Amino acid sequence: MDLPVGNTEVIAKKIKDLTGGDLFEINTVKSYPADYTETTKVAKDELRKNARPELTFKVKNIDDYDVIYLGYPNWWGTFPMAVFTFLEEYNLSGKTIIPFCTHEGSGIGRSESDIKKLCPDAKVLPGIAIWGGTVAGADNFVENWLKKLV
Ligand SMILES: Cc1cc2nc3c(=O)[nH]c(=O)nc-3n(C[C@H](O)[C@H](O)[C@H](O)COP(=O)(O)O)c2cc1C
Repeated sequence: MDLPVGNTEVIAKKIKDLTGGDLFEINTVKSYPADYTETTKVAKDELRKNARPELTFKVKNIDDYDVIYLGYPNWWGTFPMAVFTFLEEYNLSGKTIIPFCTHEGSGIGRSESDIKKLCPDAKVLPGIAIWGGTVAGADNFVENWLKKLV
């Protein structure tokens, strides 16, 4: 969506503030159409083709991180194909991956099991799904979820 700050980014920043972690954005070289419906079509096509969109940025020191909070919007029941690219670009064996997802009704979908398929040797903790329109008021929800994880 053509928003100044995306829903997922709002949650990512809350998690960063609460955990003191570093924040990286998964961004694609090719941008998506400004129009929402057009983007849904491009995304559906990428899903159908099992595409791996090229990313703009590589985390050089991924080995320094044991825990990755992985955030994404639900696109057609799972994460955008760019997140497939991300998960395949690194060896995340032995790391802990903590998913969080924003959506408009489908919840976390099949994204958790997709992470497990792509990263069979990572530990994937139970994630959260937050309705896109409610992210601004989700502070307590995110904080309580993080408390339960540790
Ligand atoms: C291409 C595309 C596909 C989407 N597919 C779904 C979906 O299958 N289920 C759902 O609940 N929401 C779907 N959405 C809505 C987004 O998950 C929701 O608006 C999300 O909060 C957007 O996060 P962002 O602002 O970080 O991009 C889709 C949005 C887009 C752009």
